[in-house]
Amino acid sequence: MFLSQDFAQVFKQFQEEGLVISPWLSGLDGSGRFDPGVFEFLEWEAREFATTHWTEHEKVASFGSLLIPDRFAYSAVYETAASTAVFLAHERTGCLDVDEAIAQEAIQLVERFVAKHGFGLFVEVYAYVAAYDNLQALKYYGSIPEREFLLGSWHRPWIDYKLDDELMAACVAGAMRVVLHDNRRYVELTDYGLYRYQMVREGLEKAGYLKQKLQLLHISQFSAFKDFEALAEENAPEFMSLRREFLDWTGIQPGMRVLELGCAGGAFTFEAGLAERVGPTGQVIAMDPAPGMLARARSKGAAKGMDWVKFVQGRAEELPFEDHSFDAVVGSIFIHLTDIPIALEQMRRVAKSGGVVASYHPLELSYNVPFFVEWFAPVMELARKRNDKPKTFLPDRETLPKAFAEAGLTQIERKDVSQVSLFHDPDKIIDLYIEGIGLFQEELAELPWQARRDTVVQLRSRGKAVCRKYPEQERVIHVPNQMVRSIVR
Ligand SMILES: C[S@@+](CC[C@H](N)C(=O)[O-])C[C@H]1O[C@@H](n2cnc3c(N)ncnc32)[C@H](O)[C@@H]1O
Repeated sequence: MFLSQDFAQVFKQFQEEGLVISPWLSGLDGSGRFDPGVFEFLEWEAREFATTHWTEHEKVASFGSLLIPDRFAYSAVYETAASTAVFLAHERTGCLDVDEAIAQEAIQLVERFVAKHGFGLFVEVYAYVAAYDNLQALKYYGSIPEREFLLGSWHRPWIDYKLDDELMAACVAGAMRVVLHDNRRYVELTDYGLYRYQMVREGLEKAGYLKQKLQLLHISQFSAFKDFEALAEENAPEFMSLRREFLDWTGIQPGMRVLELGCAGGAFTFEAGLAERVGPTGQVIAMDPAPGMLARARSKGAAKGMDWVKFVQGRAEELPFEDHSFDAVVGSIFIHLTDIPIALEQMRRVAKSGGVVASYHPLELSYNVPFFVEWFAPVMELARKRNDKPKTFLPDRETLPKAFAEAGLTQIERKDVSQVSLFHDPDKIIDLYIEGIGLFQEELAELPWQARRDTVVQLRSRGKAVCRKYPEQERVIHVPNQMVRSIVR
């Protein structure tokens, strides 16, 4: 395989330099994603950079005598800079619009990585990710009509070049072949290609690339999700009363300094009453990584004139606060999206001795309800092929109490509750659970691009049929939820 160093190590350096290589993030439509000026700028910079730096020496050092497409250097710079720019724009503004300053910054990040680690390594990372997209699609579909493969229409629809060079190189390496079925040409994997797919996948898994991709999907999707609270309240009538119950249970009092994590649009902060409870003699710092959500929460705070509530963008795993600086650190329906041990360690660190650390979170669902099994059969089928149940990011009953204890928290108490979820309107259910909250995202993220979209379309139409077949009173799920609270020693 190409990488001259351990991929996990190289990918870590990539992330440390602030680079993101997720070409799907920079869009489906090439130039259409960007304002024409920004697109021209990125394209021109990428071409210049590749022409100057892609030397014989770099190529030999990374790829030896392996065949690699000559445009790789350019594609690597363009696609990395473009996805990094979209990521930066999203981090700062909550939308995906890139201006020239951000595009410039992304190019500079590429330059900095290359100056430190060499261009060869940079192109290798790109080659690894591109190889994964190709191999994964062939593994999933079994074979792809050659024409579709070359256009990337089923698996890399964001490209504006053809994949004939990649196909040729993979055939020469013995990983793919072109075969005839009914007088049509198809691309498929060879046994060696299958082995290579497994190696690349393992490398990406170990490096944390797949996990990062999943997090990016969750955050970018959630940020664009404007109606979360309205939809969630409509589908779960106890949405607010359970949050109020949690607030009471945490023991938060007026005048406290409280950190709320994963505040999203502020349902717990404002509607459930956290800000009101703490009052102007105290302070609430509400945090969320999704800028779109944070902007909505901020405008609610401003409309209510509650200036003791401040907003900070960020993740629970990296809290930019001093040790022992909060009376309570809490959050509602967020901890399942974090790296739980790291988040809890941070929550404990910033809470005062004697302070409260508490979470309200959903638990793993039971899928044994007939209407649900029928509706989500395509996802269940993906799991069944692996002899498994669908992968879920939702914790089980023991995960959080155990993690609280492992984080050194004491006097841990739990309260298991259940929330009714109504499956009335199929489109709203898909908007909320699949395209919003990201239920089954782990399963869907494993699919090539087009298969992911097709599955969501399929889930929408199955939903309509299921809703016609089952009466409304049978389309109900009791979602297990849990509250955990603890005291910092
Ligand atoms: C379902 S919303 C929670 C909404 C709100 N707290 C409530 O009670 O309805 C989950 C939020 O967690 C945020 N989130 C995702 N990853 C996170 C992380 N690593 N740290 C903190 N929050 C995160 C998401 O951006 C999203 O806004």
